[in-house]
Amino acid sequence: MTAHYQASGNIAVITLDNPPVNGLGLSTRQGIAAAMEQANADKAITAIVITGAGKAFSGGADIREFGSPKAMAEPNLLSVIKLLEQSNKPVVAAVHSVCMGGGLELALGCHYRVAAPNCKVALPEVKLGLLPGAGGTQRLPRVIGVEAALNMIVSGDTVSSDMLAAIPGQQLFNKMAASADSLLEEAKAFATDMADVRPMPLVRDLKCKHPDGDAYFQFARNMVRGTAKNFPAPEKCLDAVQAATKRKFEDGMAFERDLFINLMWTAESRALRHVFMADRAASKIPDVPADTPKREIKQIAVIGAGTMGGGISMNFLNAGMPVVMLETKQEALDRGVATILKNYESQVKKGKLSQEVLDQRMGLLSTTLTYDDLKDADMVIEAVFEEMNVKEAVFKQLDAVMKPGAILASNTSTLDVDQIAAFTKRPQDVIGTHFFSPANVMKLLEVVRGKATAKDVLATVMALGKRIKKTSVVSGVCDGFIGNRMIEQYSRQAGFLLDEGCTPAQVDKAVEKFGFAMGPFRMGDLAGNDIGWAIRKRRAIDKPDITYSKTADLLCELGRYGQKTGAGWYDYAPGQRKAIPSTLVEDMVSEHRAKLGTPTRKIGDEEIVHRLVFSLINEAAHILEEGIASKASDIDMVYLTGYGFPLWRGGPMRYADEYGLFNVAQRMQQFAANPQDDATFWQPAPLLARLVAEGKTFTG
Ligand SMILES: NC(=O)c1ccc[n+]([C@@H]2O[C@H](COP(=O)([O-])OP(=O)(O)OC[C@H]3O[C@@H](n4cnc5c(N)ncnc54)[C@H](O)[C@@H]3O)[C@@H](O)[C@H]2O)c1
Repeated sequence: MTAHYQASGNIAVITLDNPPVNGLGLSTRQGIAAAMEQANADKAITAIVITGAGKAFSGGADIREFGSPKAMAEPNLLSVIKLLEQSNKPVVAAVHSVCMGGGLELALGCHYRVAAPNCKVALPEVKLGLLPGAGGTQRLPRVIGVEAALNMIVSGDTVSSDMLAAIPGQQLFNKMAASADSLLEEAKAFATDMADVRPMPLVRDLKCKHPDGDAYFQFARNMVRGTAKNFPAPEKCLDAVQAATKRKFEDGMAFERDLFINLMWTAESRALRHVFMADRAASKIPDVPADTPKREIKQIAVIGAGTMGGGISMNFLNAGMPVVMLETKQEALDRGVATILKNYESQVKKGKLSQEVLDQRMGLLSTTLTYDDLKDADMVIEAVFEEMNVKEAVFKQLDAVMKPGAILASNTSTLDVDQIAAFTKRPQDVIGTHFFSPANVMKLLEVVRGKATAKDVLATVMALGKRIKKTSVVSGVCDGFIGNRMIEQYSRQAGFLLDEGCTPAQVDKAVEKFGFAMGPFRMGDLAGNDIGWAIRKRRAIDKPDITYSKTADLLCELGRYGQKTGAGWYDYAPGQRKAIPSTLVEDMVSEHRAKLGTPTRKIGDEEIVHRLVFSLINEAAHILEEGIASKASDIDMVYLTGYGFPLWRGGPMRYADEYGLFNVAQRMQQFAANPQDDATFWQPAPLLARLVAEGKTFTG
């Protein structure tokens, strides 16, 4: 059992001991129940203290039990809390470090709470599309007031114990300990003082009212609806807290339970729980164990101070790591440094950064025109022009100057990392680090594992990704890696839709209604339509069988590259980013359609969305089968963090599972029958067909 009992004089100390954060898994709950029985049976014991070993009081539910019968097995958390409330000796929670979710609900079931300073307190269930289901919505408002509790429950945000202790009239913490070190002794002394006090106080007996009652809740409801559309949980949190002010405690508990169970079954909660697990799983690589030794990375070099080189450098400067940038010309270095400085200055203006931190970060940045100056760097990231001969020259020079064991990374988005590695005599040290633009903002980092990349290099880069706060996902080597390989199919479908009768605005609107941050044409205008143009030109030589709509080329021939040229699929007022539908483009599209002789048809939103999203899914199934991605959830993380896929749908693979793989495959067969589309592409990928036949899913 992962909770221990120890008698200390007349005080029983129950210690949760389930690393890393004392999650309230079955064995911990059993441990608490057994210890409570022992304490109550022992005549010498007068009071009980519950605390947590190590780094937390308790982080709440044990995520390893998510979805397993163990999570609900008796004694469940509600039963454990009941044991605390019914104890015939007072129970004191000694709260420190982390007290979240079920951990806080457990503490609220105790008669008293003593807290260490700086303890992180939260009810974060809403972030998983749920609400606190073990009395949190009924008890927290009783001890810190309705408004403060509602804010915490609806946002899921963490608040420090010191801030909570400062709320006038609060009864969450009966005492603040001087320090985490003295917490246990102070809690035991407090328990000794309270040993004979009767009746023993219970949070459930406290009053729960808001002076403005319904008016306040109506105001709060409007706020929640405005900010949480597509997410049902926040409003249900509000319903539960409102119930705490209106119903008897036990009725409120039953109401909370019903809401919790209903939320558990929503697609949104399933998606958010999937994302929570997917995020953790992304750093786990099947054949690279967590204890793989890592190389020490203290100093970074970046080659190329352009759009990506500058953004990439900022990530490391932000993490306090020195960066040296190399360019071919001083002007390019000056421009790169000026852009970085401008970026930081705008953060200072917005109050997001202090001048002092700006100075520190800029102080970590140096520049050079000479490869010799890179010899102390532990890792170099190349972000020069996307041309193989330029990459070749750079990697040959890096091979000559970098110290043994240094990691050589390329930010290439389309070139073969294995070929780049072969330019060096140390292919085991070469890896792809595919940042997304703007590199200092976007969360996603595709870590491209070459066929020779050493395991410790991969482990080191994944750990570095965490250090610079990226979501790192491993991809094998292929054209476009995970994200761009999939988006190519999506863009092809977007083009075909124009040829068949849609306008760019119609496609974008349908996709944005589905929940994407931006439709494909607005995205093209933002990223630059010339990028796809260059890729298609290359494809015409490399892979002439791939068909595309010609409209995107016609657009580029007009010089309409997007926002950077003031016009793309849309018109833009000077200096503005608002996309205005363009009659010129719409005429261009319909003239092209007439030239093709394609009958124009009215295409509904459902077809638009499914052709685009299912094209992602089918390509993803190929990617999985080829082992380019090691798990479906990695693909979801790529799309959620790099491509604006709606979070509440959990990513394309999760969405496919939710829609039903059988239904997805059937729809693909219908698309294959469309003579204007690419029948070969729409044959369900073998993996998809197999999962359908076996009645299985991508994400399990
Ligand atoms: N822009 C994006 O959205 C994006 C996204 C992901 C990856 N990438 C990749 O990142 C790389 C850089 O792209 P970018 O958009 O920053 O290009 P960019 O044109 O803005 O910058 C490239 C920089 O490299 C410098 N350079 C060229 N040859 C050099 C050499 N031999 N030695 C040193 N410096 C040299 C140039 O002077 C220029 O400043 C490319 O491989 C690109 O495919 C770009």
